[in-house]
Amino acid sequence: MIIKTEKTIPTSEITDQWVFQRRRTIIKAMMAGMLLPSAVSLASAGSDDPRWRDLQRSPYSDDTASLTPKRLVENYTNYYEFSFNKEDSSDLAQHLRIDRWNIAIGGEVEKPGQYFLEDIIAKLTLKEYVYRFRCVEAWSMVVPWVGFPLADLIKLVNPLSTAKFVKFTTLMQPDTMPKQRIKAMLDWPYVEALRIDEAVHPLTIMAVGMYGDILPKQNGAPLRLVVPWKYGFKSIKAVVKIELTKTAPMTTWHAFAPNEYGFYANVNPDVPHPRWSQSSERRLGSGYFMPRRRTELFNGYGEQVAAMYGDLDLRHFF
Ligand code: MTE
Repeated sequence: MIIKTEKTIPTSEITDQWVFQRRRTIIKAMMAGMLLPSAVSLASAGSDDPRWRDLQRSPYSDDTASLTPKRLVENYTNYYEFSFNKEDSSDLAQHLRIDRWNIAIGGEVEKPGQYFLEDIIAKLTLKEYVYRFRCVEAWSMVVPWVGFPLADLIKLVNPLSTAKFVKFTTLMQPDTMPKQRIKAMLDWPYVEALRIDEAVHPLTIMAVGMYGDILPKQNGAPLRLVVPWKYGFKSIKAVVKIELTKTAPMTTWHAFAPNEYGFYANVNPDVPHPRWSQSSERRLGSGYFMPRRRTELFNGYGEQVAAMYGDLDLRHFF
C-alpha cells in the first residue's frame, strides 16, 4: 500500500532516469558526429527542447486539482505486456526499443501510410493537458500530460465520411515484453477503440510526455492515448497502429470479460463493476486515512462530453 501525502509539485520535476541516460548517450553520439539533429528530436525532448519550454496549457486543463507526484505515476503502472504487478513495469519496460517510432495509419482515410512520429510532432502543436485519470480498479490520479489532440492527427490523413470508429493497436515486441510470449489472460496485441466523435473530441489527446518531459517507457512511451472521461484501460500505450473503421472493433478488455469491461467504459459511479463498487475512488498519493473521493459521472467531464451520449442507456452501454 502506498501511503503518501498529496501536494502540488512543479511539472518539471526531477528528470526521469531513462531520459537522463538517453540524453547522455545522445550528447555523446552527437559529439562523435554520429547523429543528425533530426534523429534526436523526440529522444532528447523535454525540458531541453525549445518546443517543450513554456508549453501552453490547454483550456481543458484542471487547474484546481493537486498534481499526483510524478514518482507515483511512474512507479504504479498498469502495463500487462510486462507484468500484472504494478510495481514491476517501471524496471521491465526500460528494455523496450522505441527509437524511430512509426505509426501505421489506415482504413477509412484518404492518406493511409506509415508516419514517422517525429514528422507528426513537427506538424502539430504540443500543449500541456492536466487531466484527472480514473482507473476501473477505483484509484485515480491527476497528471500533466504533454500531447496534441487526436483530432489534429486524424485531420492530417483526411478521414472519409465512412469512418465511424478509430482502432488503436499497441506494439508487439515479445523479446522485451515478457507477457507477449505467453497467452496470459489477454490476447495480444493490446487493442482499444473509440467512436469517431469521441476520438475527435477536443479532450481526447495523444500524449508524448508528462510533467514537462518525454513519457517514461512504463507510462506508454513514445505515444499513448489519453481519454480522461473513460476508465484508464481505454488509454492505450505504445501505439503503433491507428485505423479508422466502418464498424466497431473488438477491444482487448471487452473480449476478455464483456460483462465486466464495456466498449464505452465511461466513468460512471452508478454502474458498479460486477466485483466492486465504482461510487468512490482512492486518489494516488493521498494519505491512508484520507477519505475516498466520490467518483463523478464521466470523471467530472460531463459538461464537455455528456451530449455525445444523448439518450444512450449508460447502464446497458457501460
Ligand atoms: N496499454 C497497454 N498497451 N497495455 C496495458 O496493459 N493498461 C491500461 C492502460 N493502457 C495498458 C495500457 C490500464 S488498465 C490503465 S489503468 C492505464 O494504461 C494505466 O496507465 P499508467 O500505467 O500510465 O498509469
